[in-house]
Amino acid sequence: MIIRDYRVNDEIGWIRCRTLAFLQTAYFDNVLNKKERYENPAIELVAELDGQIVGLIDVEYEKEERTVCSKGTGLGGMIWHIAVHPDFYRRGIGEALLKEAEKRAIKLKLNRFEAWTRDDQWVQNWYEKMNFLKTESYYHIYFEGEQMDEIVNNKIPKLYLVNIFAHYIGNDIEQFRKANHRIHECVCYEKYFNV
Ligand SMILES: CC(C)(COP(=O)(O)OP(=O)(O)OC[C@H]1O[C@@H](n2cnc3c(N)ncnc32)[C@H](O)[C@@H]1OP(=O)(O)O)[C@@H](O)C(=O)NCCC(=O)NCCS
Repeated sequence: MIIRDYRVNDEIGWIRCRTLAFLQTAYFDNVLNKKERYENPAIELVAELDGQIVGLIDVEYEKEERTVCSKGTGLGGMIWHIAVHPDFYRRGIGEALLKEAEKRAIKLKLNRFEAWTRDDQWVQNWYEKMNFLKTESYYHIYFEGEQMDEIVNNKIPKLYLVNIFAHYIGNDIEQFRKANHRIHECVCYEKYFNV
């Protein structure tokens, strides 16, 4: 297995790896059909085994404080994607990708990584094993079906809202649980480098 820079012709392998990895998580329907591009520079690495992309990490990073990360001081990097093909989970590939990204980040004079993930305990275990600290969280809510009118006062004629995706940053999440909405806690992890 080698860790190397992403190349343009890795795109299909990158998409397949990310889709399969995320199918096992609370992000199961967050499917991309193109590799993301970033406004700022990025560390974009893949893990390749026998010609197959089996892992990936994308970290967009700052040249100016707080242009990418949501908190912290100094220049940071945001992990937008980290994924390992499910046939290759728990073989150290995620850790190897993170370590290489960290090595490059330190050379680029970054002091930390930030990452957001949902409420998959095993994914959170991974971040914690990699020495990330949980800093805050809020909620992702998918409203579906007939309750829409109670939630949004839609005044556009002939427009019927069917699904709504919302961020909730308040303290009363219980009010939404009664109606059986799909709710995820979205958690921020941060790791300052020891240099
Ligand atoms: C999270 C992820 C990147 C970890 O990569 P990986 O190569 O499987 O993990 P590593 O081999 O580096 O680390 C394994 C450690 O992580 C934790 N871990 C990983 N998968 C786990 C699972 N299914 N159950 C419990 N702990 C798990 C454990 O601490 C494990 O150590 P152990 O095997 O000694 O118990 C990978 O599982 C993945 O792609 N997950 C889905 C995508 C995702 O959620 N990405 C991050 C959210 S943005």
